[in-house]
Amino acid sequence: MEPEARAGAHRWVVRQIPAQGKRSDLHAYNRHLMLSQRTPVSITTPIYYVNDRPHIGHAYTTTLCDVWARAQRLDGREVFFLTGTDEHGAKVEKSARERGISPQALADENSAEFRRVMELFGLSNDDFIRTTEARHESQVKLFVQRLLASGDVYLGEFEGWYDEGQEEYVTDTRAKELEYKSPISGKPLVRAKEHNYYFKLSAYQARLEQFFDAHPEFVRPAGRFNEVRGRLRDGLQDVPVTRTNFSWGIGMPSAPEHVIYVWIDALFNYTTALGLGEPNGELAKARAKFWPPEYHVIGKEILWFHAVVWPALLMALGLPMPKCVYAHSFWISNGQKMSKSLGNFIDLETIESYFAKYGLDAWRWYMTTQGPLGTQDSDFSPKHFHEIYTAQLVNTYANCASRTSSMIEKYFGGVMPEAETASMPISATAGAPTWSAFTSDISSKVIKHYAAFELAEAADSALSIIRAVDVLINETQPFKLAKDPTKLPEVARILSACAEGVRIASVLLTPIMPTKCAEVLAAFGAKTTEEAATNGIESSARWGGLQPGTKILKCAPFMRVDAPV
Ligand code: MSP
Repeated sequence: MEPEARAGAHRWVVRQIPAQGKRSDLHAYNRHLMLSQRTPVSITTPIYYVNDRPHIGHAYTTTLCDVWARAQRLDGREVFFLTGTDEHGAKVEKSARERGISPQALADENSAEFRRVMELFGLSNDDFIRTTEARHESQVKLFVQRLLASGDVYLGEFEGWYDEGQEEYVTDTRAKELEYKSPISGKPLVRAKEHNYYFKLSAYQARLEQFFDAHPEFVRPAGRFNEVRGRLRDGLQDVPVTRTNFSWGIGMPSAPEHVIYVWIDALFNYTTALGLGEPNGELAKARAKFWPPEYHVIGKEILWFHAVVWPALLMALGLPMPKCVYAHSFWISNGQKMSKSLGNFIDLETIESYFAKYGLDAWRWYMTTQGPLGTQDSDFSPKHFHEIYTAQLVNTYANCASRTSSMIEKYFGGVMPEAETASMPISATAGAPTWSAFTSDISSKVIKHYAAFELAEAADSALSIIRAVDVLINETQPFKLAKDPTKLPEVARILSACAEGVRIASVLLTPIMPTKCAEVLAAFGAKTTEEAATNGIESSARWGGLQPGTKILKCAPFMRVDAPV
């Protein structure tokens, strides 16, 4: 019997044991047992407004989620990675009017552009949800009906400070703190009054505070958790669920003159994509297992909705809480906030120019390792991009793969030599671990870092294997030893260790640089990602996977390019 844990519940399932006798069957069965005990996991990006063109911010969040999703798939987990577009609301209505087209036409056009971008970035999302789709709209109505029935949503009147750009009300205390100006656009907040349906957010104050106190990992990084926890103490006001000042949206069930507020509509995407609005429907049967998500990854500006409003809505609906809302900071450009008027926007055309010069995987590397995952914004500069590319990808990863493969070609005719390397220390330094212990330790660290959304740390740990291979080559100088034929067994040992190190690092780096790592793995005769996904990353990254006699091809995954002017 084996446990299947999901949403805190343990079910015991009896599985049929294969007939005795065939060792390979038993081996496969054990592997299946190991992997099937891993629970399905999911991750989401915000759904992006269709009144904007895709830029570095959208690319960043989606790439981070993609790296995480690929790492989990590589580790044998069943993953659901969701992204999509947010298509309703006054802003879309206004932009469409300005262009003389219908809001639906504008949404179709821009949503298609976001989808094209996903393909361009090689993103591996499992679904792309649009809030104008019937499957989303019908479930949002069902959710809102449930909230009406439970009394969590009621018809009321409200007057307060409103941020027009963000389409959100701010509390009186917060408005005062902000000096009655939008923290995003800087424009004055306006006093607004509405007859609306409201969600009783205030009723969830105590439960939210308890939840936060019991789950300090619910919002990450920790600085953002403290920010929200602090703001919770100011007290919660009920939030509007509908608006009457625009019509481009989902009509309130039984009161269609009220349109469901774009934020409420949008948040529900995370559950409608899984069919949770119709728990007995086909979609829910296939996908309900992916709730709750491990991560809602978002930018810092939309934290309040995700960390406070959304959990309260889920509490009202009796749905389990997401495990973590990860709010990263912003990319800024050449030291300043990106803005169209400053002309420093890293738009799609700029990103494509980086693809052309450095390649997609180099872009992914930079996003993953240099981005604003913490509470500080990161500055995007062409010079810094170039320095990182040259130092880490050309001089470290590519150089190591290239030196190792060329020496195996030169001294062993491109065939992995026979040598015992597992017990070999990684360097001449006293107490240095063996290659097999070192790489196994790094592999488990990398797997943990990926799972914990510590993506830059995962990259750095994996690269430390490459750095160790470099040290080995520099310390032992196999190119000098090879001049003496009696030293060839020693050279064989060194280069075998180098090749195995490059292979393992490439397995571990695959989620970040899928194309380049597959290229290196193929050159090193290793079965690529499919093998890892079947066996689990730990087993694929185990020392000794590269068999003597394997054909090794010369490879240089990243080439030097000219510095930006
Ligand atoms: N539609 C809402 C989200 C609803 S989710 C239920 C929205 N859309 S948006 O198009 O404005 O996208 C915002 C997201 O884009 C941010 O949360 C962040 O993920 C990303 N970024 C936008 N600008 C960014 C930077 N300058 N830097 C990094 N990411 C930023 O808000």
